[in-house]
This record gives sequence, structure tokens and C-alpha cells, in this order.
Amino acid sequence: MENRRIYLDHNATTPLHPEVKKEMIEAMEMFGNPSSMHVYGREARANVEHARGVVADLMGAREDELVFVGSGSEANNTVLSLFACASNLCLSDFRMRKSIVTTRIEHPCVLETSQCLAQRGTNVKFLDVDQYGRIDLDQLKDYLTDDVGLVSVMTANNEIGTIQDIPEISRMARENGSLVHTDAVQAFGKMPLNVDELGVDFLTISAHKIYGPKGVGALYVRKGTPYCPFIRGGHQEKGRRAGTENTLGIIGLARAVEMRAAEMDDEAKRLRAMKERLREGIEASIDEAYFNGHPTLSMHNTLNVSFPGAEGESILLYLDLEGIAVSTGSACASGSLDPSHVLLATGTDAERAHGSIRISLGRETTMEEIDYVLEVLPPTIRKIRNMSTAYIKGGEHAAAK
Ligand SMILES: Cc1ncc(COP(=O)(O)O)c(C=O)c1O
Repeated sequence: MENRRIYLDHNATTPLHPEVKKEMIEAMEMFGNPSSMHVYGREARANVEHARGVVADLMGAREDELVFVGSGSEANNTVLSLFACASNLCLSDFRMRKSIVTTRIEHPCVLETSQCLAQRGTNVKFLDVDQYGRIDLDQLKDYLTDDVGLVSVMTANNEIGTIQDIPEISRMARENGSLVHTDAVQAFGKMPLNVDELGVDFLTISAHKIYGPKGVGALYVRKGTPYCPFIRGGHQEKGRRAGTENTLGIIGLARAVEMRAAEMDDEAKRLRAMKERLREGIEASIDEAYFNGHPTLSMHNTLNVSFPGAEGESILLYLDLEGIAVSTGSACASGSLDPSHVLLATGTDAERAHGSIRISLGRETTMEEIDYVLEVLPPTIRKIRNMSTAYIKGGEHAAAK
């Protein structure tokens, strides 16, 4: 087992798919600006437009409904910031709709943008979630007043994997005349998603979560939806996102999407079986292991589990020493020792939230790696719990079985 390295943090980011890497290396020679009219520009433009078709296809969108952007965070900021448009000229019909509805468990790029908008006068209402991380549709109904311009709910949560009922959320929001956005960064490419079936006006994706390159993503904008560019100053993307296109990144994103289309169904079955083995193995070998997220309506690659009496950061570091990479929550939140806002929103107490780790599987994960985790994790938890005076003091000392 020496020098063994097992990557189980695919919700933070994924390695480049070998096919993506190959395609990007070949495309590196192509340097033309897609806006140039000469042959160099035309070659780059053809590649960007081909990529647009490929990405649009996997979500059932039209090519002209897809805007390439610099990240999932940028796409999410773009949608929410529509409502901060100073003149609201771009929003015409939505001028009087000054409220946004979102959830307490969104990614920080939605939550912090919402909080910033709230400080600037937008009325933001945050939906609660139940113990599994599902939003309360009755509360949504109450929140859907005629001043709500946008409802933004993530398709699947990055920390606990819980999947929301986006078609029903969209149906309710649209009936109220509100626009609907879903952050599908974690779900896209892992489960089939179709913008018409989801009923959304905006949908966000990011390449680096699906074995594509970092720093590129796409925003789906339903045709005819009011829109305001977040980055101005160029005609690129039909004036919807200024800045010379990241041609190489876009080519990588499209190849990643093609590979997702080919691989995701079989992969889902494989990963579901591995997740189940992991869950059962943890349950059988470690006392007091609490699984976070919905038992069934959850991403097949994501397992979030709390071990009271063992700090998540300590577990992460001990596992890292054994060559296993997991996470304590969202990568973006690491660096902060605050308990996860997602777990707190599900009613998990702070101690249990502090003792949680996220294990996120990916296309290259093997059953053998899962078995190795099951070999290493129980003694690791036992060791940390034995060192934890707080845990013993509480009189609830429970070593790994
Ligand atoms: C649900 C979700 N939304 C948005 C993002 C941000 O995407 P990006 O890293 O491309 O900015 C992430 C990344 O962790 C995410 O998990």
C-alpha cells in the first residue's frame, strides 16, 4: 500500500479525462481569436460553435441558448445580478419584481451574492430544508408572492448530494410568473438533465466538475428570457459575456461533455454500488456514524458522514497520510473552521457538523479503493476519538467497532 494515492474528492474537482487532455493538447496550436475574420479566427470560431452544439445537446438546449463563461461561480453571479441591474432596463417586465427566493444550502457563490444583493435593496428569501436537505415546497408556495422575480435552487448539493425536485419547483415558480435558475454544477454530467423537463430559464454548469479544464463553464439562458451581461465591453457571446473566448477551455469542456454522454449511465451504476458498499462498511465497523443527506434522492457519487468526537479536519489529515484524499465539506469553504452551513441548515448540531467528512467518488474510483478506505477509516476514527478529551468528557465515548 506504500505511496498509494486515492482521490475521493471529485465534488471539489476532477482530474482531466484522458480524451479531454488529448483534445486540448492538439488544440493548443490553434491560437486565433474567434472574432477575427481571417483563417486563424475562422478556425477558432468553428471550434467554439461546434463546442456550443455539443454542450447544448446534452441538456436539450438550442445552441443559441448557451453562453460560455469563466466558471460556475460567474454563471451564478450573472443570473442573480440580473436583479441588481441599476436601471432594470434589461428586465422590462421584471422591473417591479424585486425579490429573489433561494435556499440556505446553496453554494457560497449564490449565497454571498444574494446577501450582497440584499444589502443593496433586493428582498431575498431563503428557503429552509428538512433533515435530508430537501426544500419545503409549502414554504416555497408561501414565499412565491407577485414581487418574486427569480427562484434559484441548486439541482444537487455539493456537500451532501441531496437532489431537489426542480421540475416541481419550476412549475410553481413559473405559475407565479417568476424566472427559475438551477445551479447544476454538481448534477450535470452525472445524471440526465433536460432544460425543458426541468422547466428552468437558467442553468449553470462548470467544466472542472466533469473531467474538463478549470476556469470555464456555461450558462443556459432560455430564448426570450430577460438578460443582462455581468461582464460588459465586447460583442462576444452575442453581447452576453464580454471577453475573448477561452477557446482551449471551451474545446475541453465540449470533449468532457461528449465523454459524459458516453460514460455517465454505466458509471452511475458502478458508483452507486461503491457508495452502498462504503456506507454499509462504515455502518458495520464504526459506532455512531451518522449519514448526512437524503438516503435515496442523492447523488450516487457523494457520501457525507459525521463521526461525533472526531474533528473532520483531523480525519482528513490522517486519511491524507494514508494516501486517501477526502474533504470536510465544500473545498471553497476550507480554510474556514466554521461548521458547514449546509449541515447546520439540515438541523445537524455544530459538534456533529464539525465531525463530518465528504467522500466523493469518480469515474476512476475502484471497489478495491473503497475496501482500502474501509480498512483505514475505522482505526483512524478510533485513534482520533481516543485523543478527543471532549468526547470522553461527554461520557459518550464510542470507539470504532
Ligand atoms: C454547486 C456548485 N456551484 C458552483 C460551484 C462553483 O463552480 P466553479 O468552481 O466553476 O466556480 C461549485 C464548485 O464547487 C459547486 O459545487
